[in-house]
Amino acid sequence: KKIAIFASGNGSNFQAIVDAVKSGDLKAEISLLICDKPEAYCVERAEKENIPCFTFYPKEFQNKEAYEQVILKKLEEYEIDFIALAGYMRLVGPTLLNQFEGKIVNIHPSLLPAFPGKDAVGQALAAGVTKTGVTVHFVDEGMDTGQVIEQRSVDIDEGETHESLQQKIQRVEHQLFPDVLNKLLNS
Ligand code: GRF
Repeated sequence: KKIAIFASGNGSNFQAIVDAVKSGDLKAEISLLICDKPEAYCVERAEKENIPCFTFYPKEFQNKEAYEQVILKKLEEYEIDFIALAGYMRLVGPTLLNQFEGKIVNIHPSLLPAFPGKDAVGQALAAGVTKTGVTVHFVDEGMDTGQVIEQRSVDIDEGETHESLQQKIQRVEHQLFPDVLNKLLNS
């Protein structure tokens, strides 16, 4: 199966997925990176890995439908079967949702439905909970609202900082996301 990854930033999850394909842990092909921030580090990662990348500036389009139509063309060109959102900081609209129904997943750094949206790590620290985690879920039109596929919890220790918690969460993400993708695509 051919996967397109959507990302907006650092792309450490993109890298973890690519590495899992290389090691044989994830049986799939990473065929395309879609990025709405052309200067983001994930673009450099794709170049280093020789993975085709489509970048765009959303502001240069009239609306979401207009840029999603262009993305859709790219997905068709590369015969994409499945989409993984890995730090893609936008809501997906009906143009993509209708064509890829049940075939778009996202990773989010909390135990959803707790702490959806931006800075879920900061939200968990501010709430004073002792446990947060990671969720992989199907994508719908809402913000982190789709059906949960798998979750892993992460303890918040005394003296935990934003940085230390973020690191613990990312370590879990880098295992969980390739794992869930492999299950979804190969069983
Ligand atoms: C991850 O924490 C992911 O859960 C969230 O955005 C972050 C992306 O990190 N949706 P990276 O760009 O993969 O390093």
